[in-house]
Amino acid sequence: MKQTVDALIYLETAGVGLLLDCRDGRLPEVVHWGAALGQLSDQELLSLAVANVAPVVSNMVDVPVRVSLLSAHSAGWVGRPGISGSREGTAWSPRFSVSDVRIDGVAASHLLDDGQQAVLRGQRFSLEAFDTEAQLGLQLELEMANSGLIRARAELRNQSSQPYQLDELNLAFPVPLAAEEVLDFAGHWGKERIPQRHKMTVGTHLREGRKGRTGADAATLLCLGRPNFSFQQGEVWSVHLGFSGNHRHYAERLYHGVQLLGAGELLLPGELRLAAQQSYQSPWVYASYGRGLDDVAARFHQFLRELPGRAAKPRPATLNVWEAVYFDHDLERLLGLAETAARIGIERFVLDDGWFLGRRDDSAGLGDWFVDPALWPEGLSPLVERVRELGMEFGLWFEPEMINLDSELARSHPEWVMATGNRLPVESRHQQVLNLAIPEAYEFIRDRMVELLAEYSITYIKWDHNRDLIDAGRQPTGEPSVHEQTMATYRLMDELKERFPELEIESCSSGGARVDLGVLERTDRVWASDCIDPLERQQIDRWTAQLIPPELIGSHVASARSHTTGRRHDLAFRAGTALFGHFGIEWDLSAASATDLAELAAWIRLYQQERGLLHSGRTVRVDHADPSLLIRGVVSADHSEALFELVYLDRSELAPRGRFQLTGLDPEKRYRLSVLAPGDQPHGLVVPAWFAEAEAGAVYPGSGLEMVGLQLPEASPEQVIVFKLSAV
Ligand code: DGJ
Repeated sequence: MKQTVDALIYLETAGVGLLLDCRDGRLPEVVHWGAALGQLSDQELLSLAVANVAPVVSNMVDVPVRVSLLSAHSAGWVGRPGISGSREGTAWSPRFSVSDVRIDGVAASHLLDDGQQAVLRGQRFSLEAFDTEAQLGLQLELEMANSGLIRARAELRNQSSQPYQLDELNLAFPVPLAAEEVLDFAGHWGKERIPQRHKMTVGTHLREGRKGRTGADAATLLCLGRPNFSFQQGEVWSVHLGFSGNHRHYAERLYHGVQLLGAGELLLPGELRLAAQQSYQSPWVYASYGRGLDDVAARFHQFLRELPGRAAKPRPATLNVWEAVYFDHDLERLLGLAETAARIGIERFVLDDGWFLGRRDDSAGLGDWFVDPALWPEGLSPLVERVRELGMEFGLWFEPEMINLDSELARSHPEWVMATGNRLPVESRHQQVLNLAIPEAYEFIRDRMVELLAEYSITYIKWDHNRDLIDAGRQPTGEPSVHEQTMATYRLMDELKERFPELEIESCSSGGARVDLGVLERTDRVWASDCIDPLERQQIDRWTAQLIPPELIGSHVASARSHTTGRRHDLAFRAGTALFGHFGIEWDLSAASATDLAELAAWIRLYQQERGLLHSGRTVRVDHADPSLLIRGVVSADHSEALFELVYLDRSELAPRGRFQLTGLDPEKRYRLSVLAPGDQPHGLVVPAWFAEAEAGAVYPGSGLEMVGLQLPEASPEQVIVFKLSAV
């Protein structure tokens, strides 16, 4: 029998501290997750752990209830369990003992003297645990990234010869009860990541995603914060599940004086039966703590920026042809678009849906990934080659996980369609789901993609996914297979990236319905929404940035009249909105006037000039009381420069509007301020006196900009003012 471990573990980075209690061989219990504790001795940390053991009160179990990262019913915890499952009704309440703790890869047994309680410090730990009675093994990994972002995952192993059915595996982090406001997200097609806030009460705030994809309505990030927390103020704790299949996030508060933030994959009935010695590995559960939401976001941003394989080259200004041509794939028209695009500075040209066999509208063709000779008699070469000659990269749209019944593939392999029972799932956008967990189906799709990527010079895939997974079972028995489908999708992405190291992938799902850190470990940006109306996009992009940095958020300039909402906007409002993301165009440029094209070219130049800053700096969303206005910015890591934008959403109740403050600057530095405005000046612009002074070279102290601020210029609704600050 292995020795049990008797230690505390302390991780601290970038202002975040996490103290875990693993004494007496128990699974780690979070003593503290929040602000860094600083230089405390082992003895001090031990006394904090002891000081945080709850008293035994009437009518509860006769020992203090200890809540570990995998909250255990066997420990007296009566909230949502970390592990739920059984072996035909047995082994349903495991009690694990820990052995073999490793910290930064080194076994704890090398670090601890026999029988001594001590504190292990590092950035990464893993442990092995077992329950001999339940015949289950457990591996837990937890890391604190350089940004202070924590992530943890567990692997459960069935050590019996009898199968074990796993129903749930959740990892949960306790959060102080003072964090009593919940923030998470909702949404729908074309209006993703709408924030919702309410007060936490006893019970569970449960967000389940049962769509087989992340979902436009996904919780995205489930936060608990101190009352009135904002972008800059108030402590906030949050969790996010890095997974693109079915999932669950929850905040749970018990009368016991404990509240937790948890997350895990949502498994369908009987979906995960572990055979003898088989294991299940959970997705990573991410946990970000910060003072204010910007701080929480910054930890995710830095983590994503540091991920190995993250495309390092500047994010190319992109033209996607979808809203320009839809299914009208006419070579001359597309060549015309490419010529204009190159002339105004576009660096990547993406051919969207409609190029493959039988695809004239959205009712047929998915699965037949052959260039349609009826539309493209010479293949894609005439377009790809011209795009390349014009100095642009070429990108192509795929929807690898889907199939239309009206396709050669469905006619020859109806058994590859996901279904349960002797019936087909209800259609959605006339399509069904192709079961990539079937090896032959996977290989067919992979080979088609590999062949196309090898034949043409394609460096970018827009990877779409346009329906929920309903009745997503494996034929003929119909067992649920969302988990396997998600894993197969990840495998396919990984395999393609391995074969084509230059390849970038955009994660799209009916717009922004696949935005999570599971897919973002292997993709290079997301398409945040099919709604390109800048008024909507200001909000969608602002809240998408709660999880991912601006350079991963595809943001385009569309036609003046939005295809989704019918609203009309000036070019400056459209381009000024796209400027703060991964900038692109999705507009029939043949309909754009010469003046528009010249202005667009100027915005592209501005994007190219500022993207170094925009894509490496810290995102700031300035707290401001007036809901008619948004203020956002990006401040460089060394605080030497920043780009800010005043976004006029509506008319204000105030006239004049009063002051605004600029946050995130260096209070010790002095800044010069210049307004950057390609094209016409904003409609209704009335400038305060400081504008002229700034133009004449006035310099402002960082401290003053933050504490005193500047008077807001007046402008009409749906206008932006972009300005740059440079330290002198
Ligand atoms: C949904 C995407 O979000 C759109 O941008 C476009 O690619 C269409 N699918 C194509 O079918």
